[in-house]
Amino acid sequence: MKIRIYDNAEQAGSAAALLIAAQLIKKPDSVLGLATGSSPIPVYKQLIALYKAGAVSFAKAVSYNLDEYVGLAPDHKCSYRRFMQEELFDHVDMRPEATHVPDGLATDPDAFAAEYDKAIRAAGGIDLQLLGIGRNGHIGFNEPNDHFVGGCHVVDLTESTIDANKRFFNSADEVPRQALSLGISAILEAGTVVLIATGSDKAQAVRDAIHGDITPRVQASILQSHRDVYWMLDKAAASLL
Ligand code: GLP
Repeated sequence: MKIRIYDNAEQAGSAAALLIAAQLIKKPDSVLGLATGSSPIPVYKQLIALYKAGAVSFAKAVSYNLDEYVGLAPDHKCSYRRFMQEELFDHVDMRPEATHVPDGLATDPDAFAAEYDKAIRAAGGIDLQLLGIGRNGHIGFNEPNDHFVGGCHVVDLTESTIDANKRFFNSADEVPRQALSLGISAILEAGTVVLIATGSDKAQAVRDAIHGDITPRVQASILQSHRDVYWMLDKAAASLL
């Protein structure tokens, strides 16, 4: 694994954006696995800047997002579809039909999850997966568990995640209790994984994932078994390494 430590979140984000841009330059029709949360925001800002400078194009790319809250409509202010539109898709030349975010309103979320995995496989799998990490070591919405779940699935969110994510909602009560999340298989099958973690509240999860045992209690620890992972950290997130 490659561990890169930067002075601050903006620099870590810019460096992660360069890895994504390099992937698109190498293979314009890349399948990108994209992530939400506050950590990727500097990544998307820099990608938009690179696009506006003519350095990179998304015209041939395809994207699959990691996760979505069950029960939120695509235009809900806290949905991950809306986040992606506002933070990236609306500002670059990505084809709307090439962007995929799990459907929070799917009438049969389990059936939807199976189809989502099939679609990713049919697209050739993910070339580059961007990830954040939860304070409890989750990736996507793969919460601490006694096993790893391979396929896309419906997850019951933990109190820790509801607490961490309530800042985006009016109150904790409004945070959906379930989400659709890509499983561990599609992430591990990605050609390259770029995980961005910034801030001191991620330091313990980063330490456990990189130096601890591989355990489903810290889902990100499974990345130790991936051959091409970049840990893009700021000094605060790297402070316990
Ligand atoms: C959510 C998302 C994750 C993300 C995590 C951390 O739970 N499902 O994909 O990595 O939050 O988010 P943040 O970057 O805002 O700390």
